[in-house]
Amino acid sequence: MIDLTDHTPLRKSRNYLIFQHPDRQDALLKVRADVPVRDHWIPRYAEWRYGNLRQWNREANEYLAALHRCCPEIERLAHFMGYAPTSLGPALVVEKMTGPDGDLAPTVYKEWMSLKEDPAGRKRLGEEFMELLDDLERGRIIVGDMSHENIVRAEERGGKLVVIDGLGERVLFPLALFSDWAFRKSMQRRRERMGSMFGIRS
Ligand SMILES: Nc1ncnc2c1ncn2[C@@H]1O[C@H](COP(=O)(O)OP(=O)(O)OP(=O)(O)O)[C@@H](O)[C@H]1O
Ligand SMILES: [Mg+2]
Repeated sequence: MIDLTDHTPLRKSRNYLIFQHPDRQDALLKVRADVPVRDHWIPRYAEWRYGNLRQWNREANEYLAALHRCCPEIERLAHFMGYAPTSLGPALVVEKMTGPDGDLAPTVYKEWMSLKEDPAGRKRLGEEFMELLDDLERGRIIVGDMSHENIVRAEERGGKLVVIDGLGERVLFPLALFSDWAFRKSMQRRRERMGSMFGIRS
């Protein structure tokens, strides 16, 4: 078990305390910090078996499927490195993406905000986001939650945009998982939505 007693988290997010992995410079430990909520009076199977860790199953599953397909686009994802028990509870082990200063990589949200006075920079960022969507579509990788805080610019990928969270389909009937048509349709909708947000045409 990894003892995190004397460690301060690098970041606290809605769901996680995020620590530097004590034995691996290139990895982070993400410990759940949210209070488990019971969704149903009679818990569903996944809830009963995995509690508030059930979301990890879906994320690891999508990563595993991408590994199985050997798609080069998997490099658009922070590498999934497994799970680990810690003194603060179960942790997700994930590749640490960094920025030029060696700190945690800047999120697209942060970059977008810093480009307030730079419309050309914002347009470029939008185009890079679209390229990320193209790659994910080519690799048939499903990202359910592509919010701006789940995408970072990583030195480890030569400064390209990388997904660090939100992998897998979150709906009860994951149509996009089985139907190529539904998958492409959902990507098209996302492209249109994001395109108008970034002020570019898809
Ligand atoms: N692998 C990683 N490499 C670099 N930074 C990371 C990594 N994972 C998380 N972070 C940083 O921590 C922040 C929060 O992480 P994450 O998105 O996984 O948690 P969360 O936002 O609580 O989850 P959710 O998106 O479900 O709300 C990210 O926005 C990012 O800045
Ligand atoms: Mg997130």
